Amino acid sequence: MPGTIEAMEGTTDFAWGVGTSAYQIEGAWQSDGKGESIWDRFLHDRGIRPDGDVACDHYNRLDDDLDLLASLGVNAYRFSTAWARVLPDGIGDVNTPGLAFYDRLVDGLLARGITPWITLYHWDLPQALHEQGGWPERVSVDWFARYTQVMADHFGDRVKNWITINEPWVSSFLGYRDGIFAPGEQDFATALRSAHHQLLAHGVATRIIREAVPGARVGIALDCRPAIPASPAIEDIEATKHFDGFRNRWFFDPVFGKGYPTDMLDGYSATGRLPADLVLAGDLSTIAEPVDFCGINYYTSIRIDASAKEQEFSEGPVGNPAAPGHTEMGWRIDPDALTAFVRRVHDEWQPASIVITENGASFSDEPGIDGRVHDMARIEYLDQHISQIDQLREEGIPVDGYFVWSFLDNLEWVSGFAQRFGLVHVDHSTQVRTIKDSGYWYRDRIATGRANPAG
Ligand code: FCB
Repeated sequence: MPGTIEAMEGTTDFAWGVGTSAYQIEGAWQSDGKGESIWDRFLHDRGIRPDGDVACDHYNRLDDDLDLLASLGVNAYRFSTAWARVLPDGIGDVNTPGLAFYDRLVDGLLARGITPWITLYHWDLPQALHEQGGWPERVSVDWFARYTQVMADHFGDRVKNWITINEPWVSSFLGYRDGIFAPGEQDFATALRSAHHQLLAHGVATRIIREAVPGARVGIALDCRPAIPASPAIEDIEATKHFDGFRNRWFFDPVFGKGYPTDMLDGYSATGRLPADLVLAGDLSTIAEPVDFCGINYYTSIRIDASAKEQEFSEGPVGNPAAPGHTEMGWRIDPDALTAFVRRVHDEWQPASIVITENGASFSDEPGIDGRVHDMARIEYLDQHISQIDQLREEGIPVDGYFVWSFLDNLEWVSGFAQRFGLVHVDHSTQVRTIKDSGYWYRDRIATGRANPAG
């Protein structure tokens, strides 16, 4: 296939990685001075088990996990830092042992030839800040600025790839509108406030990192849900446009300098859900601080009808076995929607670079009698999605990295350990790790240096 080899050769800086987040793997929720986060409190208060107290015990198994990571052949690792491990109350004194843990992580990656990609915020707000109002309060932007400054000053000599915030839609709407994620509030306007302040915090942090870190590459990881009308009926087409505004445009538009979409502003305002004092002078230019790359988290597309225009739901049954064409999250498998969405990002929002910061599938295969985990469905999912990258690059779209979610089977938030996304199986009662067939497959795919070795 013409162009394929050229597309990927000479791009040794293409980031082939895996991702994790602090709360989902670290455990050690109170160790060495770490403060409480909203996820600690949310799951404890509700008695939801398993929680993140131990998770994958990564905090205590760091060196072995880094060796495991290296054996996957990745050249990049995306992880998040727990704000409350670094600043236990969110704003006050720095917790030196917390920084020391991330020093060991960063240095251990570099020693193994793996480039660290830090995500500063993957949903675990310090509980102490929640008690002062959390993200719905505008002062949260200042809190995040201080945390960012501490991190950039400390790690900037070694870390050049920075992701400010992960999936502001999910943490704002599931956390503040639906109440099913931490901190468990249920108010639409509050969710909008959280989202707006997270976007502002992203813009402010981008400036801070750029000033503090020579050669920094800064971006945000936005979740996307490509939406397709459930039928050609006009109501379904309109509902799909609304869903796209609610879920995608509300975030991509302001980050890329277009401001909030007017159809959505009008709609939220007409239904009395838009706080009047939400957007102040200068906010939109802060949010639109230029980024070096746009991170896209993609898992699935969704069929929308008039009843679902502001909902989050799984199309298929959740659990094992997965329905045909779906993962165990009930998420439709749709690699073409990734391609289409990346094209759209390139055309409509024109970031200088695009990185697939999350993509992966939940299938709960267990080790067999041969001791191996034959997770064929995951291999197929990854193959279908990774193969899109060559095509996109041939079209001249600057896709510069791809991160499988996830390195390890981890705590899938309120779904606990039931949903397994890892390339590495974790037995959560013994903490024994087993590289799945997909992990070996990914290692071999990376070694070819191309997204589509057959191309
Ligand atoms: C994303 C999250 C990540 C993980 C995957 C399955 O929304 O960023 O932490 O839960 O979904």
